[in-house]
Amino acid sequence: MKIGVPKEIKNNENRVGMTPAGVFELVKNGHTVYVQSTAGEGSGFFDDDYLQVGAIILDTIEGVYLKSDMIVKVKEPVDREYNLIQENQLVFTYFHFASSETLTKAMITSKAICIAYETVEDADGTLPLLTPMSEVAGRMAIQQGAKYLEKPIKGRGVLLGGVPGVPPGRVLILGAGTVGIQAAKMAAGLGAHVTILDINMKRLRHVNDIMPSHVVTEFSNEYNIRKHIKTHDLIVGGVLIPGAKAPSLITRDMLKEMHPGTVIVDVAVDQGGCIETTKATTHENPTYIIDDVVHYCVANMPGAVPYTSTVALTNVTLPYVLKLANMGWEKACQTDKSLQKGLNIVKGAIVYEGIAEAFGWEVSCS
Ligand SMILES: NC(=O)c1ccc[n+]([C@@H]2O[C@H](COP(=O)([O-])OP(=O)(O)OC[C@H]3O[C@@H](n4cnc5c(N)ncnc54)[C@H](O)[C@@H]3O)[C@@H](O)[C@H]2O)c1
Repeated sequence: MKIGVPKEIKNNENRVGMTPAGVFELVKNGHTVYVQSTAGEGSGFFDDDYLQVGAIILDTIEGVYLKSDMIVKVKEPVDREYNLIQENQLVFTYFHFASSETLTKAMITSKAICIAYETVEDADGTLPLLTPMSEVAGRMAIQQGAKYLEKPIKGRGVLLGGVPGVPPGRVLILGAGTVGIQAAKMAAGLGAHVTILDINMKRLRHVNDIMPSHVVTEFSNEYNIRKHIKTHDLIVGGVLIPGAKAPSLITRDMLKEMHPGTVIVDVAVDQGGCIETTKATTHENPTYIIDDVVHYCVANMPGAVPYTSTVALTNVTLPYVLKLANMGWEKACQTDKSLQKGLNIVKGAIVYEGIAEAFGWEVSCS
């Protein structure tokens, strides 16, 4: 198969759909890989790295789309790419169709086969191509939180690890899922005292089993949240109710109960956030302050660490890319039920119920 890796053109996107390691595997399996010149630079992979493993470097994005049977990328196509996508071309990337009717209509018109990373789903309901980004964001939450706790950037002036003779900082984590557990691990590693809340007892038991004793689990309810916000320096929001807006677990009135300079990192901002005062920010301007509480609410946290994010993402996408290239999309989706769930739009027809529902349309086929 001919596989194309275009350079991402969405604003501030530095990840790339395939690393040289991925190209190496595909070429070894007899496929041809076209990589757009400088596509990997933002993630630290250069044209020479791709050339050495057998890729063909093309100068233009048009060339990559024109020559390829399958496009492997990171973000949803932007306007400029809509007309480059061809009938029967396979496009494997994050799409998030339900959030853009324009994109959905453009992909229907293209008659391409769109397999969305975010809906590839394992039998236990987990989303294997989303998990790595939650892992990155969960770990980054502590790194960012620790920075914004510094006084010159309006934080409380607390060092998370403390020093001999001074107690460590206190980190409150809402949600013991992927984000929450990775955040707890980083905070615990720095020596902070960690309290982690969830409504799922299985998750809390798991955290209790695997974490050191300075990570304390508690059931998530308003009483406990109101109690803990008064004594914690850094609060991480990592709750998710699948398919719904995140609940506002910390309301505006609660900010006044916190110490001035408390930092909130609301990772769940992409689902509306679990703090009432959350509004999405960017890496250029990541924080704002309300009632002396620093809010960090960047909606694409992994974008700040493109090397780690690219490698983490492509580690999990490559096995599917190989399967699609070796078997063709129809056979690959027949034999792999997880991958089949990734089928969103096929040759002009919506085949994923959630998208049709989002716009009040009929599902065309299944
Ligand atoms: N900002 C970013 O860059 C970024 C990056 C990756 C993920 N995210 C977002 O982070 C959020 C968390 O993702 P995840 O992968 O950890 O999800 P997850 O499903 O693994 O974990 C969510 C947890 O929230 C818990 N929860 C639900 N209601 C709760 C409540 N009332 N109190 C406490 N806990 C509650 C669930 O039981 C679950 O354990 C999602 O919204 C995800 O989209 C954001």
